[in-house]
Formats: sequence, C-alpha cells, structure tokens
Amino acid sequence: MKIVMVCLGNICRSPLAEGILRDKIQKKGLDWTVDSAGTGGWHAGELPDERSIQIARQRGIDLTDQRARQFGRADFERFDHILVMDTSNYTNVLRLAQTGEHRSKVAMILNYAYPGQDFSVPDPYYGGPDGFVEVFDLLEEACEAFLQAQLST
Ligand code: 4NP
Repeated sequence: MKIVMVCLGNICRSPLAEGILRDKIQKKGLDWTVDSAGTGGWHAGELPDERSIQIARQRGIDLTDQRARQFGRADFERFDHILVMDTSNYTNVLRLAQTGEHRSKVAMILNYAYPGQDFSVPDPYYGGPDGFVEVFDLLEEACEAFLQAQLST
C-alpha cells in the first residue's frame, strides 16, 4: 500500500499526516509507503514548519527527515491513495488527474473519520500554536480511521 498526503505548502499539515500514519504502520509492522507533497511548490526542499516539528516531537514523532516537494501528475501512478487536507487541495489535485482511476484515488482525509462530511483540516500556517494541536488531533483521528478501514478490507 502506498499513500501520499497532500496539502498546500507541504510544510504544516501533510508532513504531520505523513509522520502520524508512518508511526502507526511501523508499530503494526506493515511494509507500506507513506509520503507527502504540496499542491504549491514554494517551500520545496524545506523542512516542515517548526510548529509542526514541535507538536509532533511532543507526541513522540520525528518529522526532521522530511523535505517539502510539489505534487505532480506522476504521483497518480506512484500511489494507491492520495489523501488531501481540504477542499481546495481536492480541487487542485483533481485538476491534474487524467483518468477516472486517478480521480478515484483522491479522498479528503477527514472523510475517513467523518464519512461524507467533506470536513477540511484547517490551515494552521497563519495562526498560533493551538492550531497545530487541533490539526495534530484531527489527523491522528483520521489516520487511525484510515488504517482501520484498510485493515478491514
Ligand atoms: P500547509 O500550510 O499547506 O499545511 O503546509 C501552508 C504552508 C505555507 C503556506 C500556506 C499554507 N504559504 O502560503 O506559504
């Protein structure tokens, strides 16, 4: 199973989603691939935002091996699941999809925890540290629900 987490900058939300899901699959001994990318390329090559690194570290997860990159068309072939954080990521990723199979790989990550609701993971970039705690907790819930959904099929 290969999963890519997608947000706008690939420095705040999707690095957390990548770190949280990787931690869970490692604890289960699963040989899955988890990656992340941003629909925008402005932060390519950068470490995750310091506030994401901090909240993850407080919860026992290290994000410092990650570097930002831009999502591209090749990712539709490389990954089985493309999990986006918000409705704007969803629109931007679908715009790049060229086949129905590609489109069928894309899902809003919170729909795993809250089916059919199309809730967005709020963008914490311009807010304070509390926003990163909220994002971490939402992504923890979503990643756990995603993992359970995969393991039960
Ligand atoms: P992310 O947050 O999409 O969760 O990584 C953002 C990071 C950077 C910017 C916006 C959102 N930015 O405008 O540079």
